[in-house]
Amino acid sequence: MVTESIELSESVVRAKREQVQANDILCGDCLELLPKLPPSSVNFALTDPPYLVRYKSRDGRTIQNDDNDSWLIPAFREIHRVLERNSYCVSFYGWPHADKFMHAFRRAGFNIVGHLVFPKPYTSSTSHLKYQHECAFLLAKGYPQKPQAPIGDVIPWAYSGNKLHPTQKPLAALKPLIQAFSARSGLVLDPFAGSGSTLIAAMRLGRPFLGIEIDPTYHAAAAGRITSEKSASQTLKAAA
Ligand SMILES: C[S@@+](CC[C@H](N)C(=O)[O-])C[C@H]1O[C@@H](n2cnc3c(N)ncnc32)[C@H](O)[C@@H]1O
Repeated sequence: MVTESIELSESVVRAKREQVQANDILCGDCLELLPKLPPSSVNFALTDPPYLVRYKSRDGRTIQNDDNDSWLIPAFREIHRVLERNSYCVSFYGWPHADKFMHAFRRAGFNIVGHLVFPKPYTSSTSHLKYQHECAFLLAKGYPQKPQAPIGDVIPWAYSGNKLHPTQKPLAALKPLIQAFSARSGLVLDPFAGSGSTLIAAMRLGRPFLGIEIDPTYHAAAAGRITSEKSASQTLKAAA
C-alpha cells in the first residue's frame, strides 16, 4: 500500500514536471512567472536573489530590486509552492538583512536546516572588516531524504571574473550543491538567474533546468551562455 502511494505520487510529480518547458531561461519578473508553474513541478531550487544592499559594482553595474524587499516574501512563497514535497532549496543571501531573509523563508513554510559559508581568496570590500565570504541557507520543504554522502558546509570559492554579471557566482561552488540536493533527473530552478550560473552548473551535471531573469541584459547573457554550452556539448557528442 505504502509503495503504491509513493509510486502514485512520483508519477504525479513526473506529470507535473512534464508540463514545464525545461532547459530555458525566461525573461521577466519571477513574481509574475512563478505562479504560472504547476505546484510540485521543481525538484531543487538554487538561487541568488538580490541582497537588499543597493549594490553598485566598480564599473557602475546595478541589480534590480536590490533597493527594496517587497518581492522577498512573495517570491519565497512561490518557490515553496512549486517545489516537490520533501525537497530542498539553497538560497544565497546578504548578511546585513539575514533577519528579513530568515523571516521570508519561514513564512513561506521552509525549515532552515543548514547554513553554508563560501570563504573567498580575496576581499570583496573593506569597512569594519575585510569582507571575504559569501553565505547561503539550506532550506527544506517537508522532510527531504538526506544526502547519502553529505557535503561540508564550507565550500571553496574562486573569483568568477564577474564579466557577465556584477555578482556572477563561480560554477565550482554551485555544482556540489546541485549534486547533493537534486535528483539525477530533477528539474533545477533559479528564479533570480542573473547570467545563468546555476543553469550552466545544472547543465554540466545533466540536470534539466529553468531560469527566470528580469533584466534583459543579464537575461541575454544567460541565454548566450546556454546556447554556447548546448553547442559545445553537441560538438563533443559528435566527436565521440
Ligand atoms: C544576485 S543576482 C544573480 C547573479 C547570478 N547568480 C549569476 O551568477 O549571474 C540577482 C538577479 O536577480 C534579478 N532579479 C531581481 N528581481 C527579480 C525578479 N523579480 N524576477 C526575476 N529576476 C529578478 C536581478 O536582475 C539579478 O540579475
